[in-house]
Amino acid sequence: MANTLHQTLRRVGAVLGPGDLSQHIDIVRLRDGRSMTLRFVEPDDAAALQHYFHGLSVNSRYNRFLAAIGELPPSELEKTLHSGGNAFAILATLKNGGVETIIGEARYAFDPVASRFEFGLSIDDHLQGQGIGTVLLSNLQCRAVALGASTIFGDTLRSNDAMQALARKAGYTFAALPSDWRLVRFEKSLDLAAEVPCAGWRAHGREMVVEAN
Ligand SMILES: CC(C)(COP(=O)(O)OP(=O)(O)OC[C@H]1O[C@@H](n2cnc3c(N)ncnc32)[C@H](O)[C@@H]1OP(=O)(O)O)[C@@H](O)C(=O)NCCC(=O)NCCS
Repeated sequence: MANTLHQTLRRVGAVLGPGDLSQHIDIVRLRDGRSMTLRFVEPDDAAALQHYFHGLSVNSRYNRFLAAIGELPPSELEKTLHSGGNAFAILATLKNGGVETIIGEARYAFDPVASRFEFGLSIDDHLQGQGIGTVLLSNLQCRAVALGASTIFGDTLRSNDAMQALARKAGYTFAALPSDWRLVRFEKSLDLAAEVPCAGWRAHGREMVVEAN
C-alpha cells in the first residue's frame, strides 16, 4: 500500500530524496475541461523549470520574485528542487501532444508552531486569466488544511492587480507590511473542518500534521 505523505515525511526526516514525493500527484479539472497535474518538483526538473521561468514575461517574473531576475539563482533553484522539512515546491503541468509541459508553479512553507502556511505562485503568461490560478490556489488551500494550518498567506506587490484580484475573490483580506512599503499581505483563516475540494489531499486529512523541526 502506498505511504501517505505524512508517513513519508516521518520516515525521511527533513531531507527528502528524489522520488520520495513523486507518488503524491493531484489531477485537477480546469474550466475548459482539461486535466492539470500538480506534482512535487524533482531534481530532474531543473532545466524545464528554468525554461519555464525564462518563458515568463518580465512583468510576471518581477511579480513572482519581487526582483528583476531572468531565472532562479542557483541557491534558490537548489531549494526549489529539494522539497523537505516544511518547505515544498510544486509544478502545474498539462500534457501537450503527449509531452508534459510546465504551465505553473508554486512554493509553500508551513510553520507548524505558528500554524501558518505561506505561498507564492505563478502561471504561464499565455494561460493567465483562464481560472488556472484559482484552481492552483484552491489546491494550495487543501494542502494547507491537510498540514493543519489555521492561516494561509502570501505577500505581493501593491501593483500586482492580478494576484490581489485572485486573492480577493478567494476570500482573503489585505494588510500593509510595515517592513516593506512595496508589499501587501493577503491572508485568510482556514476552517480545518471545512470541505476541501482536493481529492488527493483530502484522503490524508488532519493526520498530515508535519512535526516541528
Ligand atoms: C497572479 C496569477 C497567479 C493569477 O493567475 P491566473 O490564472 O491568471 O488567475 P485566474 O485566471 O484564476 O483569475 C482569478 C481572478 O483574478 C482576476 N484577475 C486575473 N487577472 C487579472 C488582472 N490582470 N487584472 C485584474 N484582475 C485579474 C479575475 O477577477 C479572475 O476572476 P475571473 O476568472 O472570474 O474573471 C497570475 O497572473 C501570475 O502568474 N502572475 C505572475 C506571477 C505573480 O504575480 N505571482 C503572484 C506572486 S505571490
